[in-house]
Amino acid sequence: MRFSIFVPVALACALAGRVAALTITIGGTVGNVSATDFLQVPASMSACAATCKTATDAIAACTDDHCLCVAPTVTDILACEQCEFTQLIAQNIPMPDPRVGSSTALTAYGAACLASANVTVPATSLTLALPSNWDGPFGQALNAGGTAVTVIIGLGLGVGSIFLLSNM
Ligand SMILES: *[C@@H]1O[C@H](CO)[C@@H](O)[C@H](O)[C@H]1NC(C)=O
Ligand SMILES: *[C@@H]1O[C@H](CO)[C@@H](O)[C@H](O)[C@H]1NC(C)=O
Repeated sequence: MRFSIFVPVALACALAGRVAALTITIGGTVGNVSATDFLQVPASMSACAATCKTATDAIAACTDDHCLCVAPTVTDILACEQCEFTQLIAQNIPMPDPRVGSSTALTAYGAACLASANVTVPATSLTLALPSNWDGPFGQALNAGGTAVTVIIGLGLGVGSIFLLSNM
């Protein structure tokens, strides 16, 4: 039983190394990240620094995946992402990183919780809300007149190209 002493030692080392380690599949250039790398606060998001620090502190304080997937951690993470999302819209800038103000990233976080911690995070805890002053494309504010003009222009372009083609 030469290994009898080594097995418990190896096991203890493995357990000691097992700090909170959710694997969140972001994809694209970011790939997979751990919870500690989930929240990003680039310079353009400085307005969210305090809100996001609360969340990164909560993540850092967790010692298991379950803690990362329940309140108040998830609530704090959503608050950070919501702040960033609101900032993206207020500044009218594209996402500087796929993790910044991203509902897709939040969905991936929820999926990681289910896979790693067997915790189903409620969708409402992962859903970003549009700012109340938002009047852009998400609102689908195209009125009937606008729609008619769009359709007529589209029709005109279509007929025009058929006319061009038939004369070639
Ligand atoms: C990312 O994580 C997913 C789910 O855990 C895994 O299937 C995939 O192989 C990982 N990809 C990389 C590049 O590590
Ligand atoms: C996951 O959680 C559900 C509900 O809490 C429980 O019924 C199920 O046994 C758990 N599965 C595993 C693999 O722990």
